[in-house]
Amino acid sequence: MMTTKISLITGGASGIGLAFAEQLASRGHNLILVDKSADGLGRAGVDIRQRYRVQVDTLTADLADASDVEMVEQKISDIDINVLVNNAGFCTAGMFTEAPLKGQLDLIAVHCIAPMRFCKAAIPRMMEHHYGRIINVCSISAFCRFPRTVGYSATKGYLWIMSECLQVELVGSGVKVQALCPGWVRTNINAALPKDTFDASKIPGFLWTEPRDLVEMSLRALERSNRVLFIPRLRDKIVVLAFGSRIGLKLLAIYRRIRFAIARR
Ligand SMILES: NC(=O)c1ccc[n+]([C@@H]2O[C@H](COP(=O)([O-])OP(=O)(O)OC[C@H]3O[C@@H](n4cnc5c(N)ncnc54)[C@H](OP(=O)(O)O)[C@@H]3O)[C@@H](O)[C@H]2O)c1
Repeated sequence: MMTTKISLITGGASGIGLAFAEQLASRGHNLILVDKSADGLGRAGVDIRQRYRVQVDTLTADLADASDVEMVEQKISDIDINVLVNNAGFCTAGMFTEAPLKGQLDLIAVHCIAPMRFCKAAIPRMMEHHYGRIINVCSISAFCRFPRTVGYSATKGYLWIMSECLQVELVGSGVKVQALCPGWVRTNINAALPKDTFDASKIPGFLWTEPRDLVEMSLRALERSNRVLFIPRLRDKIVVLAFGSRIGLKLLAIYRRIRFAIARR
């Protein structure tokens, strides 16, 4: 007997999470959307129910709050989740020494602790049914070394390595894990950041990806391959090579030294 799949998506009220919600609903999945904003969840829920005729439950939860994380974790333990998308995330502004500590600690809570707990809660039932899909939304920041991204890059790196190691333990279990590492995606994630911290207009247009395109590539790759690390676009792989590889970083350091020397003349 065919049973309807259930997908749980964190940060499902907007951006990449909403695009996952729409595409999984279009494949007939019932959804549980988790997000901080009850209003955003309400709007997403009504829209998706109307358009795709699937069941959409919503859970308002701040994943930086331990008791909210426990509430979601309990929900995951109680039912069979077939697809788990750990997507909720945010960026902080400013240099590490100047940025408020709370934001840095919240990055660890939202990008590391919540996904780790949700994986731990979902996997036993997935293994029982010999089927499960987990998408951990990381970022090319896990590889790149930019200023003002200490907490963001480090927590996305954690999520990537966690995904890789998890998959090693899950070989043959029917559970697949993907560490989705996008470059720049057109969402509101940076909208609240001051312009001197992040100016979206400085990123060339060709480097941007639409959330819908990203999600299509992610879901296709998850079914077609067993690769954990998924950097969807060639252009993003080039950015990783330039700003993340040893040789790229050495060349950048040389370039910066030359610019500095010229400026001092
Ligand atoms: N956009 C990019 O260029 C890009 C690139 C690489 C990776 N990513 C990653 O993609 C994921 C989705 O981001 P997005 O670009 O789609 O941004 P987005 O449109 O801002 O979506 C992120 C969602 O996560 C929610 N969220 C943030 N903090 C939360 C918390 N403490 N508890 C519960 N929900 C929370 C946000 O709620 P509120 O809006 O209410 O805060 C929002 O609905 C993030 O993990 C991000 O790091 C994004």
